[in-house]
Amino acid sequence: MTHLHGLLLLLPCIALLLGAVIPAIAGGQREAEALLKWKASLTDSDASLTSWSNATSSPCNWAFVNCSSTGDVTALIIINARINGTLSGLDFSAFPHLEELVLEQNDLYGTIPEGIDNLTSLISLGMHGQRLSGPIPRSIGQLKQLAHLQLAYLELSGTIPIEIGNLTSLQEMQLSGNGLTGLIPTAIGKLEKLSSLDLSSNNLKGSIPSQIGNMTELEMMYLASNYLEGELPDTLSSSKAW
Ligand SMILES: *[C@@H]1O[C@H](CO)[C@@H](O)[C@H](O)[C@H]1NC(C)=O
Ligand SMILES: *[C@@H]1O[C@H](CO)[C@@H](O)[C@H](O)[C@H]1NC(C)=O
Ligand SMILES: *[C@@H]1O[C@H](CO)[C@@H](O)[C@H](O)[C@H]1NC(C)=O
Ligand SMILES: *[C@@H]1O[C@H](CO)[C@@H](O)[C@H](O)[C@H]1NC(C)=O
Ligand SMILES: *[C@@H]1O[C@H](CO)[C@@H](O)[C@H](O)[C@H]1NC(C)=O
Ligand SMILES: *[C@@H]1O[C@H](CO)[C@@H](O)[C@H](O)[C@H]1NC(C)=O
Repeated sequence: MTHLHGLLLLLPCIALLLGAVIPAIAGGQREAEALLKWKASLTDSDASLTSWSNATSSPCNWAFVNCSSTGDVTALIIINARINGTLSGLDFSAFPHLEELVLEQNDLYGTIPEGIDNLTSLISLGMHGQRLSGPIPRSIGQLKQLAHLQLAYLELSGTIPIEIGNLTSLQEMQLSGNGLTGLIPTAIGKLEKLSSLDLSSNNLKGSIPSQIGNMTELEMMYLASNYLEGELPDTLSSSKAW
């Protein structure tokens, strides 16, 4: 009985030790494995991802990958590399230190997964210019650090989720050139740091919400080529732009 008691006391200690050691070993490796798994799901006709080859080496020397001094992947920036495939094979939960995810002008298609909220350190998200479709995931509102959101010239549809109002660090939001419908959510007025807003060339309707006047840092706003009606709200005069 006393032995069992001793063992039970020991178990939390082992768990604590493992808890301390596992992330240190995994730093970089879990990310490398996730990137290789994603690569396997893609067609890489320009062989842009050739350097992504060895799961036991650090991904920090791979093309398009940047790391912190501690070997955590902080940026994944793949622009115009013709990688063709979806985001469903990318395990976002493997990248807790990722600050910048820019996958622009490739041949990605399919939806932007809800699992994107696992990128808890994300500051910049850019996916311009490819065939990504479906709605803007509601879970995006969980990305508390997000300052730059660039989802222009995709094939996004559905409404702008009200959860966008939770992105209180947002400075720039570009959603132009999609098929977004419905009203501009009033929650947008909560984005007090937003300086640049581009919702042009969508199918948005209704009036421009007066809450836009609460965005005191706003310097640029493009709303052209939608079905918006009514007048610019008086409240806009408190914004920097006027
Ligand atoms: C993978 O990387 C490890 C560590 O850098 C190295 O020891 C191993 O030889 C490499 N394997 C291949 C197949 O390149
Ligand atoms: C990534 O690393 C490259 C090469 O070291 C550097 O030129 C670039 O500025 C870095 N980008 C980011 C976003 O840190
Ligand atoms: C990407 O791959 C899909 C499926 O294999 C194919 O139908 C599509 O044409 C490819 N896109 C481009 C731009 O090559
Ligand atoms: C992301 O986190 C959610 C919980 O917020 C979890 O249900 C989901 O499986 C995660 N996605 C991935 C790709 O790990
Ligand atoms: C995010 O936004 C929704 C809708 O506005 C709200 O109900 C929810 O409480 C918000 N969540 C957080 C964590 O702020
Ligand atoms: C806009 O600001 C006013 C005054 O500060 C506040 O009463 C109102 O709730 C705000 N609206 C939004 C949508 O944040």
